[in-house]
Amino acid sequence: MGLAGDKITIHGGRPLNGRIELKGAKNLVTKAMVAAILGETPSVLRDVPDISDVRVVRGLLDVHGVKVTSDEEGVLTLDPSNVESAHMADIDAHAGSSRIPILFCGPLLHRLGEAFIPDLGGCRIGDRPIDYHLEVLRQFGAVVEKQPSGIRMSAPNGLKGTKVHLPYPSVGATEQVLLTAVRAEGITELRGAAIEPEIMDLINILQKMGAIITVDTDRVIRIEGVERLEGYSHTALFDRNEAASWAAAALATEGDIFVGGARQGEMLTFLNVYRKVGGKFDIHDDGIRFYHPGTELNPVIIETDVHPGFMTDWQQPLVVALTKAQGVSIVHETVYEQRFGFVDALVEMGATIQVHKECLGGQACRFGQRNFNHSAVISGPTKLHGADIVVPDLRGGFSHLIAALSAEGTSTVSNVGIISRGYEKFITKLEQLGADFVLEG
Ligand code: EPU
Repeated sequence: MGLAGDKITIHGGRPLNGRIELKGAKNLVTKAMVAAILGETPSVLRDVPDISDVRVVRGLLDVHGVKVTSDEEGVLTLDPSNVESAHMADIDAHAGSSRIPILFCGPLLHRLGEAFIPDLGGCRIGDRPIDYHLEVLRQFGAVVEKQPSGIRMSAPNGLKGTKVHLPYPSVGATEQVLLTAVRAEGITELRGAAIEPEIMDLINILQKMGAIITVDTDRVIRIEGVERLEGYSHTALFDRNEAASWAAAALATEGDIFVGGARQGEMLTFLNVYRKVGGKFDIHDDGIRFYHPGTELNPVIIETDVHPGFMTDWQQPLVVALTKAQGVSIVHETVYEQRFGFVDALVEMGATIQVHKECLGGQACRFGQRNFNHSAVISGPTKLHGADIVVPDLRGGFSHLIAALSAEGTSTVSNVGIISRGYEKFITKLEQLGADFVLEG
């Protein structure tokens, strides 16, 4: 399982009931694997999910001479003793549509003095530029050269600590600063940092390696560069995006799902919204049980935002549940300018959703005076019916699965391989939860 082009036929209308287990967060694990390049000794990472994004990073580490082994399920040993330069073509072949190669730059510049990045992809949810990353690397002293096949970077005079002020608290750019500053000469001060839990866990890892990092109030992070870092041993933070996705699935299918490994602290904002919609949850030491209340759901007004706000990755699965709420909900997407492509399929299935260019339901955002459909108005309740749909991106794809599972009749969902980029064994989990489907392709 895992090839783009895979297709599932789903017979909807059955609640998802049962228990599933989470592993480590995709958005931490992939960066933790990159951090291993900075160590002089091997690192051990536990709770690594079996997802294609992890396989992509593994391939990229491999072409750079980092030996990655796995003797036990979910445990990776990463040995960077023989790290070496890779050809742009090899990086390109392994990177596929992933944006991860950009984060290899700081560590590789420290280890080898040069780094290459091909044209970057990732989910098609807006432009997703890398201007912050390139600007940050230049500030550390990297020389950035555009070449026909991608970008070459070098650090003829080494990398030096600097003062960075991000125009927007970008997760990737904050990670870029961290992964570069820890071994740069001198002190780096980062203002406007992203402070997502996955970033805090990356900081935990870097501190284990020997880094000196202070997290101050108001999105300020200070890093004192050190000359040497060791390998780390770490159990990854759980995947709160996957937890939120299954929570939304429980609501949309009128089911009851225990999400093993989910924790309250990193999901406070999601849980508040879930409760406002009418969703029930019980918090246990080993996970969170999410379930439908058995009564009508309520509409909500949500604005996606950087942490500690409501994450952009949570809105797509929740929108499916909101099609079943009694009244008008508004979702204002302020992180990515084009993250509502997935609603076309929901409309085809019977949902009433309009997308607007205006900032609805909250503060004006940076996409407001521009030509982006970034506010959605969902009127419910509507009954969804089966349809033939094609998965557009990772989170949109999961929302299509939920929509098909909650719809009356049969749906075919194509291109479901994209979902395995970020959801470990989702086919097995659907089986465990009692979904009625046939996998083809
Ligand atoms: N941005 C720029 N220039 C840059 C970098 C970012 O303009 O150089 C903009 C983006 O276009 C976007 C905003 O800044 O509008 C935020 O992007 P950010 O850099 O925070 O996102 P990212 O690091 O590319 C990660 C996750 C996303 C998640 C976001 C927000 C990974 C691999 N990806 O992306 O996860 O939505 O942070 O939390 O960590 C997903 O898991 O499906 C996913 C897309």
